[in-house]
Amino acid sequence: MNQLSPEEKNNLPRHVALIMDGNGRWAKSRRMPRLFGHRNGVENVRAVVNTAKEVGVPYITLYAFSTENQNRPKDEKSGLMKLLEEFLKKELRSMMEDGIRLRAIGDLSGLPDFARRIVEETIEQTRENTQWNLTLALNYGSRQEVLRAVAQYGQDHPSSSHIPSWEEFSPYLQTSDLPDPDLIIRTSGEFRLSNFLLLQAAYAEIFVSPLHWPDFGRDAFLEALSNYANRERRFGKTSEQIHQPLHTS
Ligand code: IPE
Ligand code: IPE
Ligand code: MG
Repeated sequence: MNQLSPEEKNNLPRHVALIMDGNGRWAKSRRMPRLFGHRNGVENVRAVVNTAKEVGVPYITLYAFSTENQNRPKDEKSGLMKLLEEFLKKELRSMMEDGIRLRAIGDLSGLPDFARRIVEETIEQTRENTQWNLTLALNYGSRQEVLRAVAQYGQDHPSSSHIPSWEEFSPYLQTSDLPDPDLIIRTSGEFRLSNFLLLQAAYAEIFVSPLHWPDFGRDAFLEALSNYANRERRFGKTSEQIHQPLHTS
């Protein structure tokens, strides 16, 4: 697929979150080391971000490193962190030109200093950009994010036994200035969320691609967007209510 129809363009997600999986298998199938896969995976980020800009998806979130990925071999972790640094250094100029604001979610204090520093610097430098929003999930785990939010909520409401509404609680999540993801894409054929945006995904549509992340380029992304555009999101209502919204209230 290399083009969306006009109807599909009218029905695009505002926020797409991607679980970039399969770099290791991609490399293995080429008899190459895992880091070769990660390097090609980073290259592919550019293709996906450019496609988002081309069709008009303003929020992209990328699961780059999970809390549980801390259990990977040291060499792989440090290789990933160097790739992150390289990527941010290389992309700063085009992020500024294109108006891309970088954000990060996850526990940045668990990253090596050099990586944390460049992430924080890039966030600061792109803070005034408003056109596009790229969020990296780094040392991110949804359960950890929620537990931290609960603790902070408790500190701010010390003697309250009131159960907060979602509107009262969700600002304590790290995604507080992002809309909920409309579409979550996972590559490499795995049907799981792996501790990614568990609460924010309450009504997200899920798309699993069999392709490994380095192969998930423009065409595959457009196919996922087209698939999304042709779904019916009901949010608990009936299909009839969705089609006749004026008669429901
Ligand atoms: C995704 O690719 C990248 C990260 C999790 C950092 P993987 O490294 O998980 O690749 P596979 O799943 O082993 O193929
Ligand atoms: C999920 O991929 C995390 C990222 C893409 C960063 P994993 O490869 O770590 O997930 P599992 O272990 O297969 O569930
Ligand atoms: Mg994996």
